[in-house]
Amino acid sequence: MHCKQTFPEGIADMARIQITGGVPLRGEVWISGAKNAVLPIMVASLLGEEPSRISNVPHLQDVTTTMELLGRMGAELSLDEKMQIEIDPRGIDRFEAPYDLVKTMRASILVLGPLVARFGRARVALPGGCAIGSRPVNLHLHGLQQLGANVAVRNGNIEASADRLRGARIVLDTVTVTGTENILMAATLAQGTSIIENAAQEPEVVDLANFLVSMGAKIEGAGTNTITVEGVDSLNGTDYSVLPDRIETGTYLIACAMTGGRLRCTRARPGHLDAVLDKLSEAGADISLGEDWIEMDMGGRRPRSVDITTAPYPAFPTDMQAQFTALNSIAEGTGVITETVFENRFMHVQELQRLGADIQVKGNTAIIRGVPRLTGAPIMATDLRASASLVLAGLVADGVTTVDRVYHIDRGYEVIEEKLSQIGARIRRISET
Ligand code: UD1
Repeated sequence: MHCKQTFPEGIADMARIQITGGVPLRGEVWISGAKNAVLPIMVASLLGEEPSRISNVPHLQDVTTTMELLGRMGAELSLDEKMQIEIDPRGIDRFEAPYDLVKTMRASILVLGPLVARFGRARVALPGGCAIGSRPVNLHLHGLQQLGANVAVRNGNIEASADRLRGARIVLDTVTVTGTENILMAATLAQGTSIIENAAQEPEVVDLANFLVSMGAKIEGAGTNTITVEGVDSLNGTDYSVLPDRIETGTYLIACAMTGGRLRCTRARPGHLDAVLDKLSEAGADISLGEDWIEMDMGGRRPRSVDITTAPYPAFPTDMQAQFTALNSIAEGTGVITETVFENRFMHVQELQRLGADIQVKGNTAIIRGVPRLTGAPIMATDLRASASLVLAGLVADGVTTVDRVYHIDRGYEVIEEKLSQIGARIRRISET
């Protein structure tokens, strides 16, 4: 199955990242705002009667896509040089997310709940399949129906309408992050109380809830598996700073572990990385933490293989699976990785094999026998996190590795080549064909 994501027109479409491996990473890297928090937060600003200002916004293609999405609806947006975004929802007069944007960014589905709650109608293109699996949105739709929305799929679009949503008890069959967020946002303006059970507990859900609370929403239990929302008549605007990106943090720490380096991540939130830090310690890293920093020293050692099973937060995140597959590729021993969240999330394996990795995939399990060396080669990014794992592999491969289709990386990693070169990597972006 191929991902339907397209690249941003005219930008970076043919860009590649070229890496010459073999340098232990050393120094300090600052962590950006979290992609998976800023997207729902930007969308949630639609619920307000006034403008909201959002800071610590990462410079990412998905943020640009979300700005375009909100702008096309009639919201007024401005962005200052510090990447603070102001979103004024008062001019919204088109209640839709068209396919050309949804196919670029699946998270566009997040506008569904807020539009129907605030404006009584929404038309959102149904996202199709993706490189990491079929990714249905049935739970988003079912949840909104339980809140009283009429929902139908016509001509490839989800059409939803409601006079005013009504609070309901919603039990999610599967833990879904954006599903929880969609229902949570919709419930803030519903009449009465909503209870979301088997809710996602990811820190990004909590950040969204905190943003909504600062707009005047009444929410309890975010960060647990039961979220209770007391609907209010209206929400105001607010000022909010987005939480640091735990997946970006983990990715740089793995880069350090793979290269035997020493790294300090600043502006981070260590408490959100327990499962990842445990695995890095198991791999042989010395780690120390402060309130907003993490320091890791690998002391020139080769990492040891680790076994991993992905699952919803607080367990090990699927968004770090590909990066640990890269780590295991060059680690001492054999590591087994089991992916339980998405059915087809091993697209990076074939590319890692091109670099000499010894990986066998059986169903949702990858068995990785660490090899002492990888060798550079041209490889191709297939999705966001897979592309990060390829960059990591390039950092340790002998010779030159070129990663094609870097628009996948630009969706979720702010200035990755700048951050990596600051800590010693020999990495550059090549923009011509
Ligand atoms: C979010 C994250 C993504 C992360 C994923 C899992 C954002 C913008 N993206 O994606 O980076 O990899 O969580 O941590 O936050 N499912 C259904 N029906 C639904 C919805 C989901 O069956 O209606 C299934 C999915 O197919 C998948 C599982 O639930 O197997 C979890 O997916 P979900 O948490 O919804 O992922 P996203 O919210 O799309």
